[in-house]
Amino acid sequence: MSKLKVLITREQLAEKAKEMAAQISKDYEGKELLLVGVLKGGFMFLADLVRYLTIDVNIDFISCSSYGNSTVSSGVVRILKDIDYDITGKHVLIVEDLIDTGLTLTYLKDLFAAKCCASVKVCAAMDKPSRRKVALEADYQGIVIPDQFVVGYGLDYAEKYRNLPDVCVVEEI
Ligand code: IMP
Ligand code: MG
Repeated sequence: MSKLKVLITREQLAEKAKEMAAQISKDYEGKELLLVGVLKGGFMFLADLVRYLTIDVNIDFISCSSYGNSTVSSGVVRILKDIDYDITGKHVLIVEDLIDTGLTLTYLKDLFAAKCCASVKVCAAMDKPSRRKVALEADYQGIVIPDQFVVGYGLDYAEKYRNLPDVCVVEEI
């Protein structure tokens, strides 16, 4: 059994989701907004975020994985499931669990921008700015965390722990 230490509580995560939803609701009032959740990790944050929105939105998902080993992002992103919507002229907000090197979101932003959407912005529940390999900033920045490998709230270690309601550091595997 692995030993887990809570880093961010469910209450802190809920508070941040509420705060971000209020800002998003204000910024996109009267606009056609499509939220694109990044699977698998983004599912829990997206589910929390949309419940606090006060505007109408469409929801879609994209699933991608980066080549290379599981803890280091290579920057080459492979799309496993693309979005279903035609995003031409739409405002797109990508919803991610965590920004690490920034490589995945840089790739996804470019991919959507090339499809002529009205705008493409990024919202992430957590951020590790010290790990960036490319200059990528969240338009809606989540909780800033140190350079530690975390699990829970959608994030996994070898496909385990995604269901944990708090974000934890794995102290022993
Ligand atoms: P990137 O390095 O910014 O491209 O991050 C890609 C993805 O790797 C993130 O969206 C997470 O899904 C995953 N990831 C990055 N850091 C961690 C971590 O500490 N635990 C679990 N997954 C992570
Ligand atoms: Mg992710």
